[in-house]
Amino acid sequence: MKILSIVGARPQFVKLAPIAHAAAAAGHEHVIVHTGQHYDVKMSDVFFEDLDIPTPNVHLGVGSGSHGVQTGAMLAAMDAVLEEHAPDWVLVYGDTNSTIAGALSAVKLHFPLAHLEAGLRSFNRAMPEEHNRVLTDHAADLCLAPTSVAMEHLAAEGLSASSVLVGDVMTDVCLKVSESVGDRRPALPDGVDGDYVLSTIHRAENTDDETRLRAIIEGLAALPYPVVLTAHPRLVARAAHYGIDLRAGSLHTIEPLDYPAMVAAVKAARAVVTDSGGLQKEAFLLRTPCTTVRTETEWTETIDLGWNVLALDLDRLAEIVDRPAPAPTDAAPYGDGRAAEATVQALEKAHLAR
Ligand code: UD1
Repeated sequence: MKILSIVGARPQFVKLAPIAHAAAAAGHEHVIVHTGQHYDVKMSDVFFEDLDIPTPNVHLGVGSGSHGVQTGAMLAAMDAVLEEHAPDWVLVYGDTNSTIAGALSAVKLHFPLAHLEAGLRSFNRAMPEEHNRVLTDHAADLCLAPTSVAMEHLAAEGLSASSVLVGDVMTDVCLKVSESVGDRRPALPDGVDGDYVLSTIHRAENTDDETRLRAIIEGLAALPYPVVLTAHPRLVARAAHYGIDLRAGSLHTIEPLDYPAMVAAVKAARAVVTDSGGLQKEAFLLRTPCTTVRTETEWTETIDLGWNVLALDLDRLAEIVDRPAPAPTDAAPYGDGRAAEATVQALEKAHLAR
């Protein structure tokens, strides 16, 4: 069986790692296409090195641009790649512009499409990611869902027949890397010792709204602990544009961390404050309380289990972050760390059934 994975943004490299290893272990041919959506060394290359992912077979070199320009450039480049490799499966990941571009290319050329991390919903139609995931699920021949909540969303949209629960592949990576980093305290900026808060902010709904971004950054800067802010290029660019100081008060702004350093930094942190999807889940897996700077989340299990709280009122950010510790839990809503194996088996089964 020949699987062709399309990835382009940082969280997709993390999800690709266990799939690449599971596909190789099962003896399948695996072609990796990197769209180039994320291109900085710290946003891309280090993930391939640290997570031992084979070098992409194809790099589309698309880079940044408006949604239309970025997605359109990927679509235009993809036709020839799919025709050349003629895969048994095109596998797309998550909810980025690389996901929707890969999905559209595959279905228009009649290559079977599978969507990993299917069925996640924020029900916020102002998010570009929500459209990317809904449209991709409906285009896909196979929806690979990470959780039973995701399966329920797929069922509610009439997609049960094409859906399989495989577990969450980010959990595979996170648990494995957590084991290898152990209790190692990460290298942190000068002035950060003892308790600290780890933060990432990058979503368009936060970075592209000046009032909201100012409130978030001021809230973080006023926390009574050092805040290690690992800054996504979009945050740096928007903050500079609005004249918002990313080094004010408690803030210690650093460049994006590689994956093992990020896992170590989450484990050692007193709390996480983020608008990332993946990081909310990683904080839960590593049992660090998380505060999410959004009005909703796709990973509702983290909220239900008490390890994640939505900061709906930014004026109360400090109080929310500094809340009492949640009750310990053994719950494992994201699977047992073997989702990639289950994914490859689901692909094999659906391929044989065709
Ligand atoms: C994208 C995804 C989002 C995902 C995130 C992970 C979409 C619609 N959004 O958002 O779902 O959570 O990736 O990070 O696809 N840039 C650089 N260097 C890089 C990458 C980006 O400088 O390596 C800059 C570019 O100027 C770009 C901006 O960051 O304009 C935003 O990048 P973009 O790919 O548009 O989306 P993300 O915000 O990263």
